[in-house]
Amino acid sequence: MTIASASWTATVLTLFPEMFPGPLAHSIAGKALERGDWAVDTVDIRDFATDRHNTVDDTPFGGGAGMVMRADVVDAAIASVADRPGPLVYLTPRGRPFDQAMAADWAAGSGVTLLCGRYEGVDQRVLDKRAPLEVSLGDFVLSGGEPAALVMLDACVRLLPGVMGSRDSLEEESFERGLLEYPHYTRPADWEGRPVPETLLSGHHGKIAAWRREQAERATERRRPDLWSRYRDGRAMETTKHGAAC
Ligand code: ADE
Repeated sequence: MTIASASWTATVLTLFPEMFPGPLAHSIAGKALERGDWAVDTVDIRDFATDRHNTVDDTPFGGGAGMVMRADVVDAAIASVADRPGPLVYLTPRGRPFDQAMAADWAAGSGVTLLCGRYEGVDQRVLDKRAPLEVSLGDFVLSGGEPAALVMLDACVRLLPGVMGSRDSLEEESFERGLLEYPHYTRPADWEGRPVPETLLSGHHGKIAAWRREQAERATERRRPDLWSRYRDGRAMETTKHGAAC
């Protein structure tokens, strides 16, 4: 696949290039892809195998289940895209958890290179040599890095300039302020005897904003104590900073 010039580019090193753009050819990411706001360039790791069977993996030293992707093959695939801008990322459940800040950081650059493992992962020596940023989608094991790459790219692409209609809605949403989102409602105002909260019908922007913040805070406190304590600590810091400045 060729890459559009000057657009944000995801380079994906994978044994399954046909998985891309996959679901990202649809909806918001798909429209942006058609417009050339971003591009995806896949590199088939198997193209870098050197034997006549195109071998990319082998049994683990020390024994055990599964197969390990060979260091020489993966290293040659990485070398072929070493000139690409942006971080080199290896997708693995052993990595740092992916979050909104990471998506925003990658989206603010010119692109990202994602190395997708299969089997039991890649030989540690190529990770030691290339020192990619190791990132996990969460505490579960996928059959390979590809589904994680698709999710991470979706999170990045929607942050690219011009991809989402209104920046306001991005800034208000979950995690941008360290809080979960407040609940949303639309017509009808009464559905099966369940009315929309009255404040939202008041037309009073100040009261609506206060209600939404309160709802966001309560949801975060109840559902995500980890985010809540970080948010509270951040607010305490802000107070101290302002206090010190006065
Ligand atoms: N590959 C397999 N499982 C994964 C996960 N949870 N995150 C990222 N890459 C993976």
